[in-house]
Amino acid sequence: MADTTDDRGVWSGKLAFILAAAGSAVGLGNIWRFPTEAASHGGGAFLLLYLVFAFLIGFPVMMAEMTIGRNTRKNPVGAFSFLTGGNKLYILIGAWGVLCGIMILSYYTVVAGWTFSFVFEELFHFMGFGGLSAWFGDTSSGLNNAIFSVLFMAATITIITGGVAEGIEKATKTLMPLLLLILVILIGYVLTQEGSMKGLSQYLTPDIGKIDTEVIFAAMGQAFFSLSLGMGAIITYGSYLPKRENIAGAAAYVTLFDTGIAFLAGLLIMPAMFVAQSNGITIFADGGLKAGPALIFQVLPNMFHNLGGVWGMIFGVGFFLLLSIAALTSTISLLEVVTAYAIDEHGVQRKKAAMGVGSGILLISLIISFNINLISTLDLVFSSIGLPLGGFLICLFLAYKWGPENAMEEIRQGYAAFDQSLVRKAWPIFIKVIAPLAILYNLLSTLYGAF
Ligand code: PFF
Repeated sequence: MADTTDDRGVWSGKLAFILAAAGSAVGLGNIWRFPTEAASHGGGAFLLLYLVFAFLIGFPVMMAEMTIGRNTRKNPVGAFSFLTGGNKLYILIGAWGVLCGIMILSYYTVVAGWTFSFVFEELFHFMGFGGLSAWFGDTSSGLNNAIFSVLFMAATITIITGGVAEGIEKATKTLMPLLLLILVILIGYVLTQEGSMKGLSQYLTPDIGKIDTEVIFAAMGQAFFSLSLGMGAIITYGSYLPKRENIAGAAAYVTLFDTGIAFLAGLLIMPAMFVAQSNGITIFADGGLKAGPALIFQVLPNMFHNLGGVWGMIFGVGFFLLLSIAALTSTISLLEVVTAYAIDEHGVQRKKAAMGVGSGILLISLIISFNINLISTLDLVFSSIGLPLGGFLICLFLAYKWGPENAMEEIRQGYAAFDQSLVRKAWPIFIKVIAPLAILYNLLSTLYGAF
């Protein structure tokens, strides 16, 4: 068996960890999934619920995952095994996380591939190569999807092979600030366009009447997906965190950063839809705002094409580059979960582990490439249901098996004033009662509604 001690790695510091965890959190979930979910679930009403879930449920669960990770220094399966002396029942929580990671990464890679292929769609459009542009913009073509899935997975594997400090850290330190910059510039542009204010008011005015079981369930699923919670990505990233760092502070930064980017993405996409409408593009379908792939991959390119010229090209290419960057910092965290599992539990070397599991997952992506209608079912099972379920089990485990006192002993390291803080008083209540009850209620009422 190979010596894998050096293959685990450790973050160089707090900023590196926060950026990497924020990089995992900020992804297609913020810029593609959040605005489209908001558009199809009542705009402002969805935004409000999403924020409530992110801060009241997401933040405590994120602290729980970081604490489990740092205490055990292991991948999700290893972590639950370590804390329970190898109890198979609890190991299943970690195994469920790894499975969700594999399945989410498999379809995420296909959608991430679209974002990258649209960089070329935009580029060729503005260079006057209509045929080439149409080829790159054809999301229904299995061949295109397969090619770009391979490219995206190759980029992900390359970064993961580099390891924690050299690979993940270096990539996210450059990519995250660039992402923020492109996003802010695009918002500035869209808000000066005709029709944008209509979108802005839809987005920022919560229509409480629109809140029902479906909207609440969607907002909760979105909060888990967006914060990368419930499947052990944060357990894994937390396992590389030095003891001197403050877990509560780091979790707060990541939550703020992620919800901040989602909020900003809404400021871009919702107004952009109405700008597109004033340019004569249909943005309503089936009685509501268009959502899903149709929104990002049809309405937005149309808007950039209408703008035309050099600026159209800069914004068109910039936007899809931004989406690709956001997706890449998330795919690396998804692959890292499974890679860490292979390294810790099966003694595989990092390079071999990353290439082996990456290629295996790519095979699933290739199947999805030719059957893209699988995406919504996989997303429902492994993300909308799978992640809150994972979060629920993590809360129960921490509250009633490992024990909040043990967890808080871990948090205290790196947070000297913890015992005097509000977090100390509130966190155990959220983990023991509020988060699990809210998740359970939501899952049950949705299941009940479905039958
Ligand atoms: N948080 C990512 C996004 O918003 O796109 C998706 C994701 C990454 C989910 C990593 C889960 C995960 F473990």
